[in-house]
Amino acid sequence: MPATAFAAALPIQSYLEELHTRFAGLNDGEVATYIPELAKADPRWFGICVATTDGRAYEVGDTRQPFTIQSISKPFVYGLALEDRGREAVLAKIGVEPTGDAFNSISLEPGTGRPFNPMINAGAIAAASLVAGHSNDDRFYRVLSTFSLYAGRALTVDQSVYESERDTGHRNRSIAHMLRNFDILTEKPEGPLDVYFRQCSIAVDCHALAAMAATLANGGLNPLTGERAVRSDCVGDMLSVMATCGMYDYAGEWVYWVGMPAKSGVGGGILAVLPGQLGIAVFSPPLDARGNSVRGVAVCKELSRELNLHFLRTPRPSRATVRGQYDLAAVRSKRVRSAAERELLHRFGTRTRVYELQGDLTFSGIETVTWRVIEGSTDLDCTLLDLSRVTDVDDAAARVLLDLVTTLAGRATPVALVHGARHSRVLRFLAEHLTGERQAWLRSFPDLDAALEWCEERVLTAHGSPNGTTTIRLAEHQLCHGLDADGLAHLEGLLERRHFAAGTLVVRRGDPATELYLLTGGKVSVTIDLPQGQRQRVATLSAGMTFGELAILSDAVRSADVRVDEAADCYTLAVDAFRELARTRPDVKLVLLENLLRTASQTATRLTQEIAALASVEPAHGGRGRPS
Ligand code: DON
Repeated sequence: MPATAFAAALPIQSYLEELHTRFAGLNDGEVATYIPELAKADPRWFGICVATTDGRAYEVGDTRQPFTIQSISKPFVYGLALEDRGREAVLAKIGVEPTGDAFNSISLEPGTGRPFNPMINAGAIAAASLVAGHSNDDRFYRVLSTFSLYAGRALTVDQSVYESERDTGHRNRSIAHMLRNFDILTEKPEGPLDVYFRQCSIAVDCHALAAMAATLANGGLNPLTGERAVRSDCVGDMLSVMATCGMYDYAGEWVYWVGMPAKSGVGGGILAVLPGQLGIAVFSPPLDARGNSVRGVAVCKELSRELNLHFLRTPRPSRATVRGQYDLAAVRSKRVRSAAERELLHRFGTRTRVYELQGDLTFSGIETVTWRVIEGSTDLDCTLLDLSRVTDVDDAAARVLLDLVTTLAGRATPVALVHGARHSRVLRFLAEHLTGERQAWLRSFPDLDAALEWCEERVLTAHGSPNGTTTIRLAEHQLCHGLDADGLAHLEGLLERRHFAAGTLVVRRGDPATELYLLTGGKVSVTIDLPQGQRQRVATLSAGMTFGELAILSDAVRSADVRVDEAADCYTLAVDAFRELARTRPDVKLVLLENLLRTASQTATRLTQEIAALASVEPAHGGRGRPS
């Protein structure tokens, strides 16, 4: 489907088009003229763009019409100052207090001369002076290249607007000299002032602004290009001053009605950020009395109201953190267990609790988890925390997780932690803080199946089943149950004894199926290779179990690989020999088929029980399937 047809088919796209139509007729406000070049803007220009943290963008109207970024540049330069000088040094020069005054007010703190916040011109000029660089050109090069990372393309300066602003920027010049007077600027004011004029004159468009907003929403990483524009630890500070000061003397109403950190500019742009979710940009030159785009404010109000984007009204995420919980009596690993082991796991499996978590693990999420884990942690052999569906674990949650492992250690309950590729930072943190004997209390696993098997081994060891694999005689094999001595002897005559070293690929997926295997010693795993390259375990078998049985039940090719985990002893029965039994010893064939059926029905029963157990698991939200 062509991009345009696809985009048009998207509900969000058609909603934005309807919104654009709804506000295109709103003709209040005046184009800025105090910077003469800005007066040339066409008041009919109007664009809306929404970019998500997943890298998708929706746009309608004049979203590719260039205009100058003006004050929207301020939070980004503030971020650079934080990155280059650190929070303390920046706070020494610039406050974070909203003034409720206009953007160009000479609002300096009595005594210190410190601008109240970095969103008013005074604070912005001070921030420009804090950007690292050996010269003003250096500094500005750093500003422009960083802005280009946010926008996802190379940005340039609109020279005519720059000159127009430089030549008429007397008020800003006076502000800069005031800042010099209070040693907020410690150099000739013209330097930082020129960086400020140039940063305001950077040409953007609505799409570039939405990318800049989405980059902030995404913790400083541009979701459209994957490039980092600012350190993640600076983003919170940037969004905080945008939330309290970004819309100047309209900030209170803005938070009330729209509820997203935002920044406006006299070029007609408004940028708003919903952390973790999306960035919004609206472009329309006519401004209200406070210097904010009239259509921009109206569109953001409507977007927030109709799409429920208010950051103080979004749903409580924590309830969704625990995707499900169950125990080892209900759900097991893919390791096929003997009847005795299954009985033990059924009796003692309730002493191992499994918690599946999901989403971003923040304080409120981990608080719910710790409550549920501790609540159910008396008399446990083990607790399993599955983080494979957790998208992020923030520092606070990692600390609480450490405390949880330590608390459970105090109750002699080890933790099995299933982690995904993205959790290396958390694992490092836990490993650094769980030293000496406490290390034994946490085991981490790349997948749930391996963790479940480890927990099972612990239960079996703790409650009576000897660990390690056994070797059995043919007569003890599941497939031979019910065969009399004569029948067994006849069958043994048809079998071939085989020994496979660890690592051997005994059965290859897709090969013709010519025999079945009676395992009498060692351990083998049935696996399939997934398109993404991982190897998925289907089952692990040990002495007494059978594999390759489908061969004799259908002419199909092998449906999976079978590899030896621990050196294995087998008897193999060729398909032809099995079929021949129908003529020679139908009684033996019947016993073999009955035993195969019994094993198949046991497997089906176990899987049905698991599906039932998982379906009845107390989900935080809605239904769910078996974890992969
Ligand atoms: O310094 C100025 O006046 C302009 N370069 C920027 C002002 C601005 O964008 C105010 N925003 N609403």
